[in-house]
Amino acid sequence: MKGLLDFALISSDKKLIASIEGFCHKSNYMLISWNNESAFLDAQEAEAIEAKFIMVSDLDSTTKDSLAQKVQVASQMCPNSFICCVVGQKMPKEEASFVIKSGADVMMTIDEVTTTSKLEYICNNVIRSDYIPIKTSDLEQDKELTFNVYYYVGQRNKFLICGHDGLVLSADKFEKMKKLGEFYIKRSDVDKFNTYVKTLSYNSETAVERRCRSEYLSLCWSYTEFIILLTDYSRFNSFTEGKALLDKCKTFSNRLISSMAAVNDLWKIINQRVINISSLDNIPAVTAYAGLFALQMEIENVEDVMLAALLSDISLIFQPPETIIKLKTTGVEKLSAEEQARYKEHPVNSLKIALDRKVPINNNIREILLCTHERADGNGFPKKRLSDKIPYEAYIVQFAEEYHKNSMLKEGTTSINLQEYNKILMDSPDTMSRYKPTFVNNIKKLFT
Ligand SMILES: [Fe+2]
Repeated sequence: MKGLLDFALISSDKKLIASIEGFCHKSNYMLISWNNESAFLDAQEAEAIEAKFIMVSDLDSTTKDSLAQKVQVASQMCPNSFICCVVGQKMPKEEASFVIKSGADVMMTIDEVTTTSKLEYICNNVIRSDYIPIKTSDLEQDKELTFNVYYYVGQRNKFLICGHDGLVLSADKFEKMKKLGEFYIKRSDVDKFNTYVKTLSYNSETAVERRCRSEYLSLCWSYTEFIILLTDYSRFNSFTEGKALLDKCKTFSNRLISSMAAVNDLWKIINQRVINISSLDNIPAVTAYAGLFALQMEIENVEDVMLAALLSDISLIFQPPETIIKLKTTGVEKLSAEEQARYKEHPVNSLKIALDRKVPINNNIREILLCTHERADGNGFPKKRLSDKIPYEAYIVQFAEEYHKNSMLKEGTTSINLQEYNKILMDSPDTMSRYKPTFVNNIKKLFT
């Protein structure tokens, strides 16, 4: 019988152990730690342990070999785990890449672990986002499931199976499932799910919606992969790899654009009750809305708008976790002066990360990205640009973010009066001073 852990820590460093214990306690992750890899091996022999996330540290190591050996032990014992390697200081590129090749998925410095939100983001995606939301419209009656379908029991914080792989959904069963509302699949089943969706009937509004949703889920996953790779210093630094990464995001963005064009109500596809949310989990939804609004406003380069939205918040991963919590709960105004100053540099820092990693970004994307928080009234950041210096597309990204933030389903609610909500949003004094009047007029036309 295998024990399934959220987090396994192999480290003898007291500071790191204390920090991870605090982190796992706060995040409700099941953690076991071992002082070294032999203790980990002994434990494995007594009872095979599978962990979703394994952290291996060697803070004093100056050579790649001892670290690579620890990583190899972890990856051989737990081949399906996500392995994070923690070092005292950044290693030279060649050494770091040797460790990665030994089986690590990501490398972090101890500073990144203890002072930034990066660990939270990765764990949210590796441990928590093990389950991906799907809708009733993603399934079809009389069709055999090729993956397990789960529902979420809030009070018990558990996912329970409501449809097994191989089950043919009878009318009766499907009706019962519909009453449960929202479903989840395992992230590892996304490919099976996408293949399943392609085999379903084509000629209905539901079919169009479900294809769009399947593209949206692919974008979400490729974005997670993109951000983990982009913010890992031990990874690539070549134009070829940077371009390959961007091309992947372009492909998913374009596939989503084509499927969005046929959909009447994107909100139904994107909106999902949020169980856990980290600093960057809003981005795929904001990107999709920005793409839709750009498409509807007949903007020439919808792809640029989507890529700017995807990249604009990447550097938030390096903000301290306390700042992110404050941003989520009380907003920018409640940050200290120092926190505000650092936060307001995030569009510039996001651009820097992408350029450092040789991601080939054109001037149009750069300008949109840098202006995703600039306001028509000159009170935005980081440069307080005036209206005529802000690209129109940057307003689209901002509006998409506002729209998503305010229209998310809150815990305990099942629906939202979108029409009423849109009216309030568009007539608010903040909207009037934040955007150009022409933009407000155009966005109003989209909702009437
Ligand atoms: Fe931002």
